[in-house]
Amino acid sequence: MSRADDFERQGFLVLPGFASAAACDALMTRAEELVAGFQPETVSIFTTHEQTRTSDEYFLSSGDQIRFFFEENAFRPDGSLRQDKALSINKIGHALHDLDPLFNPFSRAPGLAALATELGWKQPLLLQSMYIFKQPHIGGEVTSHQDSTFLYTQPLTCLGFWFALEDATLENGCLWALPGGHALGLKKRFVRTPGGGTAFQVLDPTPLPEEGFVPLEVKKGTLVVLHGLLPHKSGANTSSKSRHAYSVHLIDSTATYPRDNWLLRSPSMPPRGF
Ligand code: FE2
Repeated sequence: MSRADDFERQGFLVLPGFASAAACDALMTRAEELVAGFQPETVSIFTTHEQTRTSDEYFLSSGDQIRFFFEENAFRPDGSLRQDKALSINKIGHALHDLDPLFNPFSRAPGLAALATELGWKQPLLLQSMYIFKQPHIGGEVTSHQDSTFLYTQPLTCLGFWFALEDATLENGCLWALPGGHALGLKKRFVRTPGGGTAFQVLDPTPLPEEGFVPLEVKKGTLVVLHGLLPHKSGANTSSKSRHAYSVHLIDSTATYPRDNWLLRSPSMPPRGF
């Protein structure tokens, strides 16, 4: 059975050894440098009464930026960090693939472009990227969702590439996927509201199944390909080991991108292909 058939049937692919250990290490080192250079004046946003509005703005305008998002449990009640900044970041998003000299070529590797074509994407655009830390002890769980909820197009064309930069295990919060779950249709969209915030717009009130997920324990360098409709999640990191991952999401430029999507890029920086 071909990779494309496999993908069509189960909604995901696990491709061990897609990235070299050296390439993974280089991204990890680069992420460390980026965090070291991040001066979190934005920490203050978690300590003011305007925290929701300010952090919303920081998030909503991050589509064409490199920005840093903290773990929910990173702060003490007084707003100070519980541990070192480098161990408090949840993720970096959302345009590393365009703005960073190292993440850009990694995200535009010929092997990825070929894979997107093989899976049926005609004119892929690299829309969004995230560096995910899943920190030891405080790395939170990510509840079951479909990526097309956040990266919606008409018709649906979201495709996710998720790279394990370190071994991902049950203990450090590996991905879990629902085989075949991409056939269930899209449940909701994450949209901007006229008031300046965000909301979930329900498309199908039937909840995603809670049973049937399988853990994807994978080695460093493994690429997990995720259909935009595939329900997936990850557990909290209860271990002392981090679980760094890098993800890039594509859409197809043949589809329409609605202006009420949460992620908007400035007209001067439209998403580019490979
Ligand atoms: Fe996801």
